[in-house]
Amino acid sequence: MLATRGSLVLGFLLLSAIGGNFESIPCKLRDAEHGKVCVCTADYCDYLENPTIADDSDFALISSSKQGLRFATSRGKFGTEEVYTVEDYVEPTPEAVNETVLSRLMDRVVARAFTLETRESSITRSVTLQLDRSKTHQKMVGFGGSYTGAVTYLVENFKDPELADHLYKSFYAEDGIGFNLMRISIGGCDFDLDAWSYAEEEGDTLLSDMDQLDERDVERVAQIKRLIEVSGVKNLLIKGAAWSAPPWMKTNNRWTGFGRLKRDYYQTWADYHLQWIKLMEDNGLPIWAISTGNEPLNGIFFMYFVKFMSMGWTPWTQAIWLNDHLGPTIRNSEFKDIVIFGNDDQRYSFPWWFQRMNKTRPNSVDYLDGLSLHWYWDEIFGSSFIDNTREYAPDKILIVSESCIGDKPWQAAAPLLGSWERAEKYARDYLANIKLGFHGWIDWNICLDEEGGPNYVDNTVDAPVIANTTTFEEFYKQPMFYAIGHFSKLVPEGSIRIDAIPSNVNLNTVAFLRPDNKIAAVLFNSGRADLDITVVDSLRGKFIVNVPAKSIHTLLYN
Ligand SMILES: *[C@@H]1O[C@H](CO)[C@@H](O)[C@H](O)[C@H]1NC(C)=O
Ligand SMILES: *[C@@H]1O[C@H](CO)[C@@H](O)[C@H](O)[C@H]1NC(C)=O
Ligand SMILES: *[C@@H]1O[C@H](CO)[C@@H](O)[C@H](O)[C@H]1NC(C)=O
Repeated sequence: MLATRGSLVLGFLLLSAIGGNFESIPCKLRDAEHGKVCVCTADYCDYLENPTIADDSDFALISSSKQGLRFATSRGKFGTEEVYTVEDYVEPTPEAVNETVLSRLMDRVVARAFTLETRESSITRSVTLQLDRSKTHQKMVGFGGSYTGAVTYLVENFKDPELADHLYKSFYAEDGIGFNLMRISIGGCDFDLDAWSYAEEEGDTLLSDMDQLDERDVERVAQIKRLIEVSGVKNLLIKGAAWSAPPWMKTNNRWTGFGRLKRDYYQTWADYHLQWIKLMEDNGLPIWAISTGNEPLNGIFFMYFVKFMSMGWTPWTQAIWLNDHLGPTIRNSEFKDIVIFGNDDQRYSFPWWFQRMNKTRPNSVDYLDGLSLHWYWDEIFGSSFIDNTREYAPDKILIVSESCIGDKPWQAAAPLLGSWERAEKYARDYLANIKLGFHGWIDWNICLDEEGGPNYVDNTVDAPVIANTTTFEEFYKQPMFYAIGHFSKLVPEGSIRIDAIPSNVNLNTVAFLRPDNKIAAVLFNSGRADLDITVVDSLRGKFIVNVPAKSIHTLLYN
């Protein structure tokens, strides 16, 4: 009987018929200590061309799983009675591993079809997902990562410039994961090889060296320009943040510790920001946004723990600086349209920080177009901090401007190569914050070394791409890279979140109406059982797909 489970080869046939996707290059999977990574070398790196949707009844599904799917694409049709099955990755048998067979197997990972067979699984859970494009929420600004001094150092050392191009394209090209946002530091940050800023010379209130790039920015700016060129990213939105003023402008005359900006230099520090924006523009990198400074509370409460560049602000001092200096300086300049973000710190300071600012200088928060958040304490401080912020300041752009794993005492402060658990942590937090109304997300270092560095304070964490610094000839895409990609790749700037309501907790999901009127939905099955998902769209009807345990997917249709 047709109406029973299983029995579809449609996906594979359709894909062969269309053919276009064969320019995609599958992941070269390798077993690493904690799971599987995808290996890129100068002459090989995985890409996935964005699926095209020919007909209103067609859908495409991109899948990644703990077992080893990495952006495997399958296709089907709404209105089909049978259950589609996303076949999970199976290890090739040892005898099958020669070059010919391997390349055919890898093709299958990309061209992986919905299969004939029902998965042999003891339990299958099921859920109905209702998608409704008439119920709309926030408009997305996009997704991105950070280009730190650590990234510059690693890329400079790559043996072959082609490897750097693969890094750039993997993140910022359309057949990579389609990033359009980037965060860079104004001067140095904790992921640099030393602490530095512009205007380091004592008393240089004229900022006399800010007419040219510091030696530590020369290479970074050149690399980012190359990234823009080879990736073809269309509207790269760069957000800058300063970690610290030069020591002479600070109360403690140091890069770190309990140090604040001296009142005498409030205007100098505002001028410094404007000069930096101009400097970047003059060097071919137009700046989209700045923040009022990275993690202001580090220099006030956490100075005993934080060893890296930081400068303390309280909401009341920051209100004065923003309202009397930075705000007017920017708004009265040729760069008046620069987006200004406030806070750039953890959830526990939302919305208290902005309320206090506004008390000190009424309407100072009007200078802020957006509020930016670091994800590190999201698990401890609940969603009410964000709900209250949205209620307090409903018109601000909400961006997560930093995220990585390995910062906590209970986490390994190092990359865990192949960790699917870390990918899941990303997926969960992206889903949670997007559902809370966030408009965009910028991850931390796009690439680090095997130790999770380098930097001048041995502050080591994980990253979505890890470079091999023994050879500098390859890098590894972590499962986290694909987790992020399931959001960024098919959700371009201007996409609007729509209602996506699952009938139970077995599915975690968000969905968007894209500017091209296609629907993209992220489907996350974190369970240990496979899951039958009945997708119901108010216009297109429904279909059922069975997805494996521990898998994440992006669905695309008209
Ligand atoms: C690879 O393995 C396949 C299947 O075992 C075999 O048919 C083929 O001849 C092998 N190719 C090479 C180059 O060894
Ligand atoms: C900021 O303060 C002013 C003056 O007290 C008040 O009118 C305004 O509503 C406040 N804005 C916010 C967002 O709280
Ligand atoms: C880096 O490459 C070297 C040489 O091929 C290899 O021995 C080492 O295992 C690689 N490192 C990782 C983390 O895979």
